[in-house]
Amino acid sequence: MNLPENISPDRFLKNFDRSIINDRFEIFKSLKKETRSRFSEDVRKGLSSKKKFLLPKYFYDDKGSELFEKICTTDEYYPTRTEKRILLERSDEISLKNKKIRTITELGSGSSEKSELLINSFLKDRNFLHYIPIDVSPVLMDSSESLLKKFNNLNVSGIISFYENGIKLISHIDSSPKLILFLGSSIGNFTRKDSVEFLKMVRQSMNPDERFMVGFDLEKDTEVLNRAYNDSKGYTAAFNLNILERINRELGGDFDLKKFSHKAFYNSGKMRMEMHLISGEDMKVWIDEPGYEISFKKGETIHTENSCKFTFESIADLADKSGLAVSDHYTDTENYFTLTSLTVKK
Ligand SMILES: C[S@@+](CC[C@H](N)C(=O)[O-])C[C@H]1O[C@@H](n2cnc3c(N)ncnc32)[C@H](O)[C@@H]1O
Repeated sequence: MNLPENISPDRFLKNFDRSIINDRFEIFKSLKKETRSRFSEDVRKGLSSKKKFLLPKYFYDDKGSELFEKICTTDEYYPTRTEKRILLERSDEISLKNKKIRTITELGSGSSEKSELLINSFLKDRNFLHYIPIDVSPVLMDSSESLLKKFNNLNVSGIISFYENGIKLISHIDSSPKLILFLGSSIGNFTRKDSVEFLKMVRQSMNPDERFMVGFDLEKDTEVLNRAYNDSKGYTAAFNLNILERINRELGGDFDLKKFSHKAFYNSGKMRMEMHLISGEDMKVWIDEPGYEISFKKGETIHTENSCKFTFESIADLADKSGLAVSDHYTDTENYFTLTSLTVKK
C-alpha cells in the first residue's frame, strides 16, 4: 500500500507506528506511550473527583473486548442482534443508495461482524472496497484478518487508536467519498453535550457526498432495558469489573475485585442506563502509576458507563445541533433500534 504522493509521511505519521502487513493490509497504531499516559491521567482524574467515574473507552482491553462479545450473545442483550437483523435485511439497499462510495470507515469496529454484512453487500455491486476500521482495542487485527480472508477484493487500513486521532488520519489515507459507520449504539455512551461535540467532529471531516450511519438504541420498556445490562450469565458484571482489573494490571493498582459489585439501572429522568461499581466496605486502594491512594466509603460508587436511549425526535435534534440531517432511518419491526443515515446539513 502506497502513501498518497502529495502527503509528506511525517506530517501525519508522527503520532503513529505504521506497519504494512501485506499488499492488502496496513495498520496504524497510536504510539503506546501516549495511550498509556492518557489512561493513567484519566484514571487519576476520575477516581479523584467528588463523584468517582471511569471512562467507558477503557473497558476494551483484550479481556474487555472478549467479554463484550459474550454479552452480545446473551438472550437479554437485544441491541446487537436487532442491529444485525436490520443490516441483514437492508444492507443491499444501503449499498445501492450509495453507489459512488468505495470506502467504508468504522468508528469502534470491534469484531466487525455487523460491518461484514455491509461489506458483503457493497462488494456485490463493486469490484473493490477499502475498509478503514478505527478501534482502541487490538481486537481490530483479528477482525481485519478474518475479513481479508473472506473477501479477496477488499483492502484494509486499520487504525488502532482513539476516535479523535483516527478520524484525523482517515483523509490522509484515502480521500475518496466514504460511508462512516458508528454502530452498536456507542453514541449513547456520550452525554448529550459530548455527543453533539463528537458528531460535529465527524461532520467536519465529511463532504456532501458522504454518509454517516449511526446505530441508536431507542427508548423502550424499562424491564427490557434493565435485563439487557444485568444478564443472568454475569458477563456484564465481569465486563464492568474488568476495568478495575485493568487498572491493577496496567497501572499497578491493588483493587480487591471481590469488594466491588456491579450495578446497572435505568435512570428515566436522564433517559439512560447507568453502570456503576459499588464499594462493599470502607477501604483504601493504592495505584502505583503515578503513585497515589484513593479512599472509598462503603456503598460509594464509581460511575463507569452511561448508555443513553433515544427517540426519533431526539435523534433529529441531535443531528440538527451537529450540522447534520437525517436522510433515512432503518429500523426493526418493534422499533427497538434504528440505524440512521446522516448527511451534511445544507
Ligand atoms: C460497544 S463496542 C461496539 C463494537 C461494534 N461496533 C459493534 O457494534 O458490535 C465499542 C467498540 O468501540 C471501541 N471503543 C470504545 N471507545 C473508543 C474510543 N474512544 N476510541 C476508539 N475505539 C473505542 C471498543 O474497543 C469496542 O470495540
